[in-house]
Amino acid sequence: MRAICPGSFDPVTHGHLDVIARAAHLFDEVIVALGRNSSKNYLFTVEERVAMLTEATADMPGVRIGLMDGLLVDYCRNEGVDVIVKGLRFAGDFEFEVQMSQMNHALSGIETIMLPTSARWAHLSSTIIREVAKLGGDVSDFVPDAVAERIRAMQRARERAGGSGADAAS
Ligand code: PNS
Repeated sequence: MRAICPGSFDPVTHGHLDVIARAAHLFDEVIVALGRNSSKNYLFTVEERVAMLTEATADMPGVRIGLMDGLLVDYCRNEGVDVIVKGLRFAGDFEFEVQMSQMNHALSGIETIMLPTSARWAHLSSTIIREVAKLGGDVSDFVPDAVAERIRAMQRARERAGGSGADAAS
């Protein structure tokens, strides 16, 4: 079966990778689909996010990266995806994920499977990583090397430019 792990991955964290790796054990193939149509203010460009995801999943057999425009269910239909996989950290995730899974099922009949994330990463979110990174904190325990290196380079560039420069790369 072919599964999909959709998200913004801005940036990919150990929490995402935990869910992707576990999905890769459950399914023959996993597409990690980067959504491009969110109204979010991204820290990293699409190209950077794809590069970081590609590096971080390089040792995971059966995993490939995809780019998604428009509706997730249309992408799933075009790519022959059988099931959507989402990670759940805590109850707050559940409410929104259930709503999306119900809409996706109503639109196309596709099923969503929710995997509880490892407790080790339950406190992580890309939003918090971006916040800590912008303010000069060390996030290397929470993200793969491919991400940590880029964040350090960004922080060094900001230091050279003077000040926290929190808006420089948003
Ligand atoms: O990491 P994120 O930002 O929570 O990922 C959100 C994403 C990309 C999974 C979600 O926005 C999505 O599925 N976008 C595709 C557009 C779509 O189908 N929206 C309706 C969902 S019910």
